[in-house]
Amino acid sequence: MNPNKSYRDLELKTSLRNFFLNRIEEPIVLDLYCGNGEMFKRCYLKTKYQGIDRKTIHDEIICTKANNQKWVQKNEISYFNFIDLDSYANPYPLLFQILSKTFQEKIEVVLTDGVLISSKLTQKQGPTLAFINNIPRDFKIPLFNRFYKENILTLLLFIKKEYGYNCTYLSMDHNPKQTTYYIGMELKKQEGGQT
Ligand SMILES: C[S@@+](CC[C@H](N)C(=O)[O-])C[C@H]1O[C@@H](n2cnc3c(N)ncnc32)[C@H](O)[C@@H]1O
Repeated sequence: MNPNKSYRDLELKTSLRNFFLNRIEEPIVLDLYCGNGEMFKRCYLKTKYQGIDRKTIHDEIICTKANNQKWVQKNEISYFNFIDLDSYANPYPLLFQILSKTFQEKIEVVLTDGVLISSKLTQKQGPTLAFINNIPRDFKIPLFNRFYKENILTLLLFIKKEYGYNCTYLSMDHNPKQTTYYIGMELKKQEGGQT
C-alpha cells in the first residue's frame, strides 16, 4: 500500500472525528469497530468511551470482544451520543439498528463506507441502498458510483422517515479512487417525534 495514501486517509479520518467531537459538549463514544485503537489514540483519549470489536481490541478495560450487532442488541446504548462505525464495508444496517434503539436528542455519527469498492465492480448498489431506493438487489445501474452523494441524501431522507432524525450537519470526503467514503453526520430528533 502506498504509505502516503494511507497517511492521508488516517488524517481525513482523524480530522472528521475531531470536528464532530467538537460539536458536542460531553461526548460519550461508542466505537463499534474499534480494532487496534488507531482512532482511539488519535481522538478519544479524553472522552468517555466504549470500544467493541469481534477480533482485535486495544484495551481490555474499555473494550469488549464481541460481534457489534449482537452487542448493540443486548446492551443499553441510549447514553452514547457519539457513534463511530469504521467498518470499511457496509455500516448502514448497524446504524439503523442503533437509531431504532437510541433516544438521544442529538447524536454525532462518523462512519467509513466501503460499499463502493464492490459497487464499482458489480454496478449494483449494495443491499442497503437498493432497499432504500426500492430497487431489486441485483439490478445493475451503470456508473452508479457517480451518484453516490445523491444516494447518501436519499439515505438521510430514509433516516428521517423511519427513525425521526433530521441531519443537521453532513460532511463527506473520500480516498483518491473514490472507493471509500468518510462520512460524518449530526442527527437531531425531530420535534414532536417521527413524521
Ligand atoms: C478498519 S478496522 C477498524 C480500525 C479501528 N477503528 C482503528 O481505529 O484502529 C475494522 C475492524 O472491524 C472489525 N469488525 C468487522 N466486522 C465486525 C463485527 N460484525 N463486529 C465487530 N467487529 C467487527 C474487524 O475485526 C476490524 O478490527
